[in-house]
Amino acid sequence: MKIRAAILRRSPVKGPYAESMPLSIETVELDPPGPGEVLVKISAAGLCHSDLSVINGDRPRPTPMVLGHECSGIVEELGAGVSDLKRGEQVVMSFLPTCGHCATCVDGRAQLCEPGHAANGAGTLLSGARRFHCDDGAEPFHHSGVSAFAEYAVVSRRSVVRVTQDIDPVHAALFGCAVMTGVGTVVNTCRVRPGQTVAVVGLGGVGLSSVLGALASGASRVVAIDLSEDKLALARGLGATDTFVASDPDVVEQVRAELNGGVDHAIEMAGSVKAFELAYKITKRGGKTATAGLAAPGSSFAIPAVNLVGEERTIHGSYMGSCVPPRDIPHYISLFQRGKLPVDKLLSSTGPLDDINAAFDLLNQGKVVRHVIRF
Ligand SMILES: NC(=O)c1ccc[n+]([C@@H]2O[C@H](COP(=O)([O-])OP(=O)(O)OC[C@H]3O[C@@H](n4cnc5c(N)ncnc54)[C@H](O)[C@@H]3O)[C@@H](O)[C@H]2O)c1
Ligand SMILES: [Zn+2]
Ligand SMILES: [Zn+2]
Repeated sequence: MKIRAAILRRSPVKGPYAESMPLSIETVELDPPGPGEVLVKISAAGLCHSDLSVINGDRPRPTPMVLGHECSGIVEELGAGVSDLKRGEQVVMSFLPTCGHCATCVDGRAQLCEPGHAANGAGTLLSGARRFHCDDGAEPFHHSGVSAFAEYAVVSRRSVVRVTQDIDPVHAALFGCAVMTGVGTVVNTCRVRPGQTVAVVGLGGVGLSSVLGALASGASRVVAIDLSEDKLALARGLGATDTFVASDPDVVEQVRAELNGGVDHAIEMAGSVKAFELAYKITKRGGKTATAGLAAPGSSFAIPAVNLVGEERTIHGSYMGSCVPPRDIPHYISLFQRGKLPVDKLLSSTGPLDDINAAFDLLNQGKVVRHVIRF
């Protein structure tokens, strides 16, 4: 079938994106779903910093590629062998297909699925297939097995989570990346207990989801840190108890003084080594520093080895919020519906596919938390 899709023809591309137009809206041929695959009509797709990182080269991926990995949609057609979904059901996509059989999947760590990561790195579906064809002969790669910036997507059944019909598709889309990663890092990676203290460094859609996750987990103090005063104000509005400007020269001393030596869990959600170092410095003795930020390849950080040991510190990477998507996405949606996780407040704006390049400028400038494309 012929569909419209936003294709990144080359990378890296510099902004402003409304001028350089890294994504071209093209009509492409989409194959029907193969065995174990599903055709989904995309309802809504959010713009995440990880898409921006593919455009600006911080996260190298093969091109041409149909970007987008945070979305909701409706099941349109089932490939051979898919019997546990029905046409018309609402789904949220997860940005890592999980095979269910590899060593890490059977160990309960779906977020590390080996074939899933290999397929995402290669820009294919879990089966190894590519389903897009351009008139000029190009066969665009798939982004994270999803390729959400398109009217329809063919994806592995393993990329799809059935969710309730009873949620606005624009809100549902946010659960595919920002909420799964942000809340999951608090709940699964850090296992925050009621009464503990949490700091989040970097307040985009992912970091603010962590703020909401920490509040829902009963943290006694939720500290929000960013370079932008607007983001701090937003975090206070969501319920953060303390806010600090990351660029203040004495921010570490301020946090440590206010929080009795630091926080139990400091979570880096900016995708920057500077932000990670700040998170490490404000973690208290015996505490955990977690990071889901995806810094540019080649970045590294240095920490004083002796306090890692003497203070029994933990450093923990977090991919996909250490989530099992079919377990966690419906649960987080249910928390949202009961008013415990007001992620609708992370929605800054919506717009059509045709305006996607200008919308990436807004994300790049920190002017939106989540902008969602409506189809
Ligand atoms: N690990 C995963 O599974 C996963 C999933 C999704 C996104 N990510 C990554 O998470 C990060 C956040 O994504 P997002 O979409 O929320 O991004 P975003 O661009 O919306 O937000 C990033 C925020 O970090 C702030 N920031 C930048 N440098 C900072 C610093 N030195 N100190 C404090 N704050 C700083 C910015 O002002 C901005 O508010 C990105 O690196 C993204 O690639 C990882
Ligand atoms: Zn994302
Ligand atoms: Zn697996």
